[in-house]
Amino acid sequence: MPTATAVIPGSGAHDDHSYSNPDEIRVRHAELDWDVLFDRRILRGGAILTVERPPGGRATRLVLDTRDLDVQKAESSRDGLSWANAPFSLAPADKILGSALSITLPADATRVRISYATRPQASGLQWLDPPQTAGKTHPFLFTQSEAIHARSWIPLQDSPQVRITYRARVRTPKNLMAVMSANNDPKAARDGDYEFEMPQPISSYLIALAVGDLSFAPISGRTGVWAEPPVVGKAAREFADLESMIRAAEELFGPYRWDRYDVLVLPPSFPFGGMENPRLTFATPTVLAGDRSLVALVAHELAHSWAGNLVTNATWRDFWLNEGFTVYIERRIVERVFGRRRAEMEAVLGLQDLAKEIATLPEKDQILHVDLRGRDPDDGFTDVPYEGRDPDDGFTDVPYEKGALFLRHLEQMSGRETFDRFLRGYFDHFAFQSITTEDFLRYLHANLLDANRELAARVPVEEWVEKPGIPASAPRPKSEAFERVEAEAVRWLAGKAPASGLPAGGWSTQEWLHFLRALPATLPREKMAELDQAFHLTDSGNSEITNQWLLISIGNGYEPAYPRLERFLVSMGRRKFLKPLYEALVKTPEGQTRALAIYRKARATYHPIAVATVDKIVGWPG
Ligand code: BES
Ligand code: ZN
Repeated sequence: MPTATAVIPGSGAHDDHSYSNPDEIRVRHAELDWDVLFDRRILRGGAILTVERPPGGRATRLVLDTRDLDVQKAESSRDGLSWANAPFSLAPADKILGSALSITLPADATRVRISYATRPQASGLQWLDPPQTAGKTHPFLFTQSEAIHARSWIPLQDSPQVRITYRARVRTPKNLMAVMSANNDPKAARDGDYEFEMPQPISSYLIALAVGDLSFAPISGRTGVWAEPPVVGKAAREFADLESMIRAAEELFGPYRWDRYDVLVLPPSFPFGGMENPRLTFATPTVLAGDRSLVALVAHELAHSWAGNLVTNATWRDFWLNEGFTVYIERRIVERVFGRRRAEMEAVLGLQDLAKEIATLPEKDQILHVDLRGRDPDDGFTDVPYEGRDPDDGFTDVPYEKGALFLRHLEQMSGRETFDRFLRGYFDHFAFQSITTEDFLRYLHANLLDANRELAARVPVEEWVEKPGIPASAPRPKSEAFERVEAEAVRWLAGKAPASGLPAGGWSTQEWLHFLRALPATLPREKMAELDQAFHLTDSGNSEITNQWLLISIGNGYEPAYPRLERFLVSMGRRKFLKPLYEALVKTPEGQTRALAIYRKARATYHPIAVATVDKIVGWPG
């Protein structure tokens, strides 16, 4: 039976990670209202959800996703003026999915109001004490909703195939500022009472809030940075190329459709490099290298304004549509703004990461269109409780780098001009919709492959999307600059030149990373010391170089770097760095002891998402 929602791409796709029932009744808009209570570490307030049924639909049960919410009351309304109590029940909690909140409402109700509070352990919130901030005097709160953490602070249909508009009112301590993934007014009076509006429909994982002692520095008329006062100047200098990056993306893939684009630099416990919250990217302070060498990260989050935020994965199985497209666009932006040499170096580093990770992954996790269910769908257990996987665990370099490599293959085989036209059409066609891998493949065939059988024969689409590994015909990005770096590494390793004689004065961060990765797993201690003395790697202020150097130091038991290792691990909580460093440490009994000693100090400062990752690595609590 065709319904109105059936014509929406991606809708009706089964989302294993949501209990909600959007095909019967769908949330379209949310009015949010919170008091931010730092002393109790809770948000207290309410959400009014506007709902819509398909034509003829008479659904009387709205199922929402929640996790650890303290739900006080549910009410329903036909007109938004008079409200009646609505019976509700909260199902027992699943460890990964949380608790389904079922609300009974009249078949003609158009709004539901839920009064609730979050709990201090909410997985999508991190409450920081003043010592964890740059300014050290005010507390800080930030959210991280992707993939399925929005439900820990808002009761909603927490599936990326449900898009909503929202408005919010947030009350904070008077001297703090609140910002959201919405229209932030840099000139808003700082009075502890803030209002926001997000007029474009977005998925729940893109709803975001941060509260702290934030100041703003403009970069261009439509871009700028938010950060704590001690950081905002450095951040504005680091991101000076923001406007050029937006222009580059617009020239390639069509207008930036979200009005302003600002970046919020968070305190160091932010668990990711960046998060593409619409209009307001959240970023780690570890991107601030001082020389703009790590800003591909911002190009990446900006690229999500097309891939991910405008055209969105309908389920977490389709995550590669967000991240693979975004990495591809990120490199196109880097190429236009910083040159082909730099973009190619980053493509090579990306492929190295991918190859290294694929070597360790089970085959089922090497597939772009990944299956996140824990058991075989054909084994007959379809009615048992959810036994799938937490999407936070399933995220690897595969959706990112294999996805980007697939698009690069399509580009090379169809020609850049043709492929750019195709992508631009794709973003226009699916703008503000959530789509599945199947929706993309249908579009790809209809708009690129079917008219060009020669092209179709050269790109094994089905193998790219549904099979493990990397197709033999995949492109091999190459960097001549890296080849020169490798030759220097070989010369130095063979003892033909001292470290001080390496032509590293002009090396970029990317060349340094490649040099360090090209070194063998075991290096004599004198070689380590020689490098360190010549280039002060232990004291590098560049987080990516530090990470790479510390990995080598752990592998070689290079003790002079251990104090730095400890400082690094207790001073930031970015999972990309924590994970490999703790993994390297626990490989030896002595390292395991060191890992636990450091983790004992650091754990309380890490974000719940990072804690979950590191707990598993070090076997906490031991
Ligand atoms: N959307 C992701 C972050 C994310 C993914 C959060 C999955 C939660 C679940 C973001 O765009 C991202 O990919 N960030 C990267 C940086 C990027 C340069 C590859 C990161 O944080 O490392
Ligand atoms: Zn991303």
